[in-house]
Amino acid sequence: MNSALNAHLVLSLMVFAQLPSSFTKGTIQVIGSSHPIVALVGDDVILPCYLNSSISASDETVEWTKYKLDPRFVYVWRDGGELESKKNPSYKGRTTVSISKLKHGDISLNLSKVKLSDKGKYRCLLPDMGETSVELIVGAVSLPGIVSVQKAKTGVALQSE
Ligand SMILES: *[C@@H]1O[C@H](CO)[C@@H](O)[C@H](O)[C@H]1NC(C)=O
Ligand SMILES: *[C@@H]1O[C@H](CO)[C@@H](O)[C@H](O)[C@H]1NC(C)=O
Repeated sequence: MNSALNAHLVLSLMVFAQLPSSFTKGTIQVIGSSHPIVALVGDDVILPCYLNSSISASDETVEWTKYKLDPRFVYVWRDGGELESKKNPSYKGRTTVSISKLKHGDISLNLSKVKLSDKGKYRCLLPDMGETSVELIVGAVSLPGIVSVQKAKTGVALQSE
């Protein structure tokens, strides 16, 4: 009876010992931004993506992709490094994820020299943890003294009212 009890105890301990990592991963949530991020052409912009716990994501696979983009990858982190060969050519040299921030659960994407064509919906995916999406809106810069077509149209509309 004693040995049966011991065997049961050992089995329980083994099951329990295996639980924590998968249990922890199961309760992690990937958080983005519920409102759109706005940038002007030429800006650097941060697309937010966080774990709801400051645990490290540097051992995880991270895929930043853009909807309707082919190939869809704008940044891929795998096996502790960036997989640049996967990246869509139009994002070459423009996307980074801070490694020091990654170690604290911040997977935000730094997109530099924003172009009009960058507008759209981005996805931050950690296959073992979850995903979120972030909308980027890109505005064109109108130089001081130059009335943009949009403003001119509004002006006409206002005058006729
Ligand atoms: C993260 O979110 C999950 C799912 O909502 C929740 O169960 C868990 O407690 C959260 N963790 C922290 C550290 O807030
Ligand atoms: C984003 O990347 C650009 C270009 O590498 C860099 O100059 C800038 O400091 C970065 N921004 C942040 C907030 O890390």
